Amino acid sequence: PAVAVLFGGRSSEHSISSATASGVLRAIDRDRFRVIPIGITREGVFVLEDDDPEKFALDADHLPEVLDNGTRVVWPEGGSDRTLRVRLPSGELEEVGTVDVVLPILHGLHGEDGTVQGFLDTLSIPYAGGGVLDSALCMDKHFMKIVLEAEGVPVSPWVTVTKRQWQRDPDQVRVDAARLGELTFVKPARAGSSVGVSKVHDPSELDEALSKAFAEDEKVLIESAIVGREIEVAILEGRAGAPAKASLPGEIVLTTREFYDFEGKYLGGDGAQVVCPADLTDDEISSLQQLGIKAFEAVDGRGLARVDFFLAADGLYVNELNTMPGFTPISMFPKCWIASGLSYRELISELIDTALA
Ligand code: DAL
Ligand code: MG
Repeated sequence: PAVAVLFGGRSSEHSISSATASGVLRAIDRDRFRVIPIGITREGVFVLEDDDPEKFALDADHLPEVLDNGTRVVWPEGGSDRTLRVRLPSGELEEVGTVDVVLPILHGLHGEDGTVQGFLDTLSIPYAGGGVLDSALCMDKHFMKIVLEAEGVPVSPWVTVTKRQWQRDPDQVRVDAARLGELTFVKPARAGSSVGVSKVHDPSELDEALSKAFAEDEKVLIESAIVGREIEVAILEGRAGAPAKASLPGEIVLTTREFYDFEGKYLGGDGAQVVCPADLTDDEISSLQQLGIKAFEAVDGRGLARVDFFLAADGLYVNELNTMPGFTPISMFPKCWIASGLSYRELISELIDTALA
């Protein structure tokens, strides 16, 4: 089958998606799949990209990026048409071939939020990963928490603040924040990779944390910081009506870093380590896997998700679900599956095969 690998995009996680593309282009099973790499520039232009993993490798000094090379991807016409074309800089229209399935490895807005999923649904082109609803829900931390809580999945206490509320009545926001305890996290509602996230240790730090988060989104969450271990479980949709599967859990081990921020995640910053499998008892592993699947089902999960937990003295909390988690070979999601017996290559095939089934 021909797989269109879609990456880059208009979100603040453009480069992370491009880095994932590098890993996927390197590892995808070429004996089974014909690859059509499609990049989306930061402006939202769809270009036919080079099939070159090195071009998009993550380098802490220079984050990879999709640039406008002058080509324009022309999507199939819809209905039964699956022919992908490209308009060359000369203006000439050229046939690229048939698209059997799309692998959207996009993170953040305009990609991980149901928009691209809806576009592909409309054209009736199969795609891997989350659908419209789960993607949209999990992109918005406010609504994700409401749904998880309603389904009996424990989440950390929080308040949601809009920019207008903050401008109109900052004192009320400060009072609400104070009720959440001494240590809080301030996050944009719709972002990822810790962009715009701050840990607040003292009320005097709240204003700056809010400004930073409001620079990313009009809607912001203030959450109680849960004291505990940070554990993550990778979920895959079951095929042919089978239940979803959960991997062995992994752990983010912080030594000197305060939290697993963008620098620690991608820029080679030390003080945080991804460990998989995590050192846990059998009972803990089974509770994490069960709650991970429950959270995945609560949001009507499709394809895959990474469920992020806090393991606290009083039990488990779900911090969030990511419907297109970081997916480079050294990211937590593939690492958890590798620890559970599925190679990075097999994992990519599994996602595509699930979409085609
Ligand atoms: N949003 C990033 C890519 C993650 O969840 O891993
Ligand atoms: Mg996230």
